[in-house]
Amino acid sequence: MSGPNSEYDPVEVTPLGDEQVATARDEALAAIEAAADLEALKQVRTAHAGDRSPLALANREIGALPPQARKDAGRRVGQARGAVAQALAERQAVLEVEHEERMLVEETVDVTLPVDRLPQGARHPLTTGAELIADVFVAMGWEVAEGPVIEAEWLNFDALNLGPDHPARTMQDTFWVDPPEHHVVLRTQTSPVQARTMLERPPPIYVVCPGRVFRTDEYDATHSPMFHQVEGLAIDEGITMAHLKGTLDHFAARMFGDGISTRFRPSYFPFTEPSAEVDLRCFVCRGVDSEECRTCKGEGWIEWGGCGVVNPRVLTACGVDAERFTGFAFGMGIDRSLMFRHGVNDLRALFEGDVRFTTAFGSEL
Ligand code: DAH
Repeated sequence: MSGPNSEYDPVEVTPLGDEQVATARDEALAAIEAAADLEALKQVRTAHAGDRSPLALANREIGALPPQARKDAGRRVGQARGAVAQALAERQAVLEVEHEERMLVEETVDVTLPVDRLPQGARHPLTTGAELIADVFVAMGWEVAEGPVIEAEWLNFDALNLGPDHPARTMQDTFWVDPPEHHVVLRTQTSPVQARTMLERPPPIYVVCPGRVFRTDEYDATHSPMFHQVEGLAIDEGITMAHLKGTLDHFAARMFGDGISTRFRPSYFPFTEPSAEVDLRCFVCRGVDSEECRTCKGEGWIEWGGCGVVNPRVLTACGVDAERFTGFAFGMGIDRSLMFRHGVNDLRALFEGDVRFTTAFGSEL
């Protein structure tokens, strides 16, 4: 900035000339008008109203004028700066409204658009089903036990009172593992886990054993050479069939809904005496007007599995004192349970890995 003129100087300081001020103002107004968005306007503000803008520089020169000239120059520069400031404010307001409107349009979410996110997948219904079953029993203080799928013939059959010539052996068409003289099978039932558990630890025993089993069945809508069972075993002092019934009623209610109970029909299994087939109250019709019911096919009951009081011969074979302890056992098909729980007609759907099936039933259990 130049120092104040000591005497009147008729030649005014150049930036303060009438024309220069008008030009600076007009250029500023034109630039403001042309600013298309808030970012552009910000730059215009710096260029035309900032500290180093022509009008700001002109303003600074006023002090350098002789006193008589200051008023006039001050008024002109002041008016020009005022006009620019006003134009800036007006343009700012207009652009802000425009910006807001544009954001509203650009950021609008069309909730009707199809979703193209990657599918998340789901856990398989057999996995979640087995976990649900385990949870029901763990909540009662039971433990989950597992055994190998390649099993000793003795544990799969003999220990369970199915001697070599027992006719019931033929009920379970067995895969034998070579060489035959090693007497190894793919387990035909989860029952050998009962024998393993009794051999491993002293009573009291309360275990559930979900797992895969194998039989030389055709692969069709209701059979598969590999399927899943869950076995239960309770060994303690004073265990009776009443405990078995109460346990299965609770299991049924937790899996199929409150009030769904079971009934026993006399049956035969070598490892239990007495033995029963256990049926489940149909959880769709609940036994009322069953004729129309497609789930229980008019029966009011659904076949669920086998059960009974553990045969003392099995206790003895597995090292349990049959004079002191009694027990109950049961076994059901997990696949079958899931099929009627979800109204699935074809067993193969459980094994063929179609994600449409898995997502429909996998995550819900
Ligand atoms: N293991 C039998 C089967 O595969 C099912 C079964 C019946 C298991 C009665 C048991 C039981 O524990 O007590 O057909």
